[in-house]
Amino acid sequence: MEFNVVHGSLTRQPSDVLIVNLFEGVKTPGGGTGAVDKALDGAITSLIEDGDFEGKLGETIVVRGCKGIPAKRVMLVGLGKSGDFGVPQVMRAAAAAARKSHELKAKTAASILHGAGIAGLPAFDCAKAVAQGTILGAYEYTRLKTQDVKAQIETFTIVEMASEKISEIERGARVGEVVGEAVAWARDLINGPSNYVDPSYLAEVARELADQFGFECRVRDRKEIEESGMALVAAVSRGSSVEPRFIELKYDAPNAGKTVAIVGKGVTFDAGGYCLKSSEGMYGMKDDMAGAAAVLAAMRGVGKLKPNVSVLALVPAVENLIGATAIHPGDVFKSYGGKTVEINNTDAEGRLIIADAVAYAREQKVDEIIDLATLTGACVVALGRGISGILSTSDKLAESLIDAGKVNGEVLWRLPLYDDYKEYLKSDVADLKNTGSKDGGAINGALFIREFVGDIEWAHIDLSAAVVDKDTDLARKGATGAGTGALIGYLMSL
Ligand code: BES
Ligand code: MN
Ligand code: ZN
Repeated sequence: MEFNVVHGSLTRQPSDVLIVNLFEGVKTPGGGTGAVDKALDGAITSLIEDGDFEGKLGETIVVRGCKGIPAKRVMLVGLGKSGDFGVPQVMRAAAAAARKSHELKAKTAASILHGAGIAGLPAFDCAKAVAQGTILGAYEYTRLKTQDVKAQIETFTIVEMASEKISEIERGARVGEVVGEAVAWARDLINGPSNYVDPSYLAEVARELADQFGFECRVRDRKEIEESGMALVAAVSRGSSVEPRFIELKYDAPNAGKTVAIVGKGVTFDAGGYCLKSSEGMYGMKDDMAGAAAVLAAMRGVGKLKPNVSVLALVPAVENLIGATAIHPGDVFKSYGGKTVEINNTDAEGRLIIADAVAYAREQKVDEIIDLATLTGACVVALGRGISGILSTSDKLAESLIDAGKVNGEVLWRLPLYDDYKEYLKSDVADLKNTGSKDGGAINGALFIREFVGDIEWAHIDLSAAVVDKDTDLARKGATGAGTGALIGYLMSL
């Protein structure tokens, strides 16, 4: 999809579909939508009067047979109640309009800049949200389809009357395009089945990123993982003949104040190991590398947007299976950080590989660590598929990530690192065991990881929003790419 910004009038812009908007409850459209309504002899006003369109957020209606303007059709998208309106709503409205345009098989779309007119939001933010929302709303996973694939919108043009806003809009649209494209790229990786997307595939993808953007890159194979002392990564991978990888990418910002480590869980398939999942629980576990996808996709964004902070990206990538050489419940391993861990549940594998990775990050003397993982079913139970959990030793880091999520189509909700639950992780034979009580599962998982972080500022994102089980405004059923936007937004804010 190509994005353009044009200085001019909506009523003179040719396109397959021209997108305008309306707040809920408004009877007479104003601004750009009002101008289009006039050119159409009040067709939009009639739709409102007849009760065909209410303006609910993401609601769409198409006006066909448009005479008096060069656009083939006009689409009206609802912005919801003006009191609830902000940048997240701009993104959702743009996404809903893009989804509908894609369904209409529109090749060219032109749009009003939602939010920048009457609502008075900054033009940069609105343009970013429109470009990002458009990519996300139109996204579809088609790589493995050989039939019935709808072509994507080819060009999307934002039309603006105010000449002084044009350069801001161009800059915003460019950032939105980069972030949207990174999120879509993460979705493709996550939606990719485990017989395609395995640890060596993730490593190849990381190498390509390194070549494209000039990152340092190091990939360890099974032998190197074992030799370097990442015994927990090695342990989890033992049940599978598919080779593990420990992937490391480094972006060095020229004048960086600090280095942030981003760590992503890369379990390309989680059968649970000998603590085997049920068939229902296992289906969908190709998604268990959503943290890895978010981290790699964020590096795509970093490569293109070049933030003023150095970034160390780490992805421990494994399959968690059953096999003759697989670990047994009760086995004990010495972690990379030095603590011994009794694996009392082989299905709590994510925290094991993340533990070695954060201990490695700590050794690299980074200033902050953010890990992202589809760590617990408990977090899904607590928050559902629309919200991810965040647990952090730093209020500032947690708040910054929550804020970065908000303007990037993600909701993050803070959960407590409740110290009293630490006692559940005590082992009879080792320093720690990997699972405590079933209750408070998301907290227990995070408390385990915290044991390996030391005193570095740290946030853990439990990606309960990694996949959705039905279409939403911003994503279709399947992977959402959650974490990608929050990471890029946070790194760009430093
Ligand atoms: N990958 C799963 C967590 C998961 C399951 C995320 C379903 C999203 C949807 C993780 O490796 C796991 O199996 N966790 C266990 C932990 C338990 C054994 C303490 C879980 O959540 O059941
Ligand atoms: Mn598991
Ligand atoms: Zn898992």
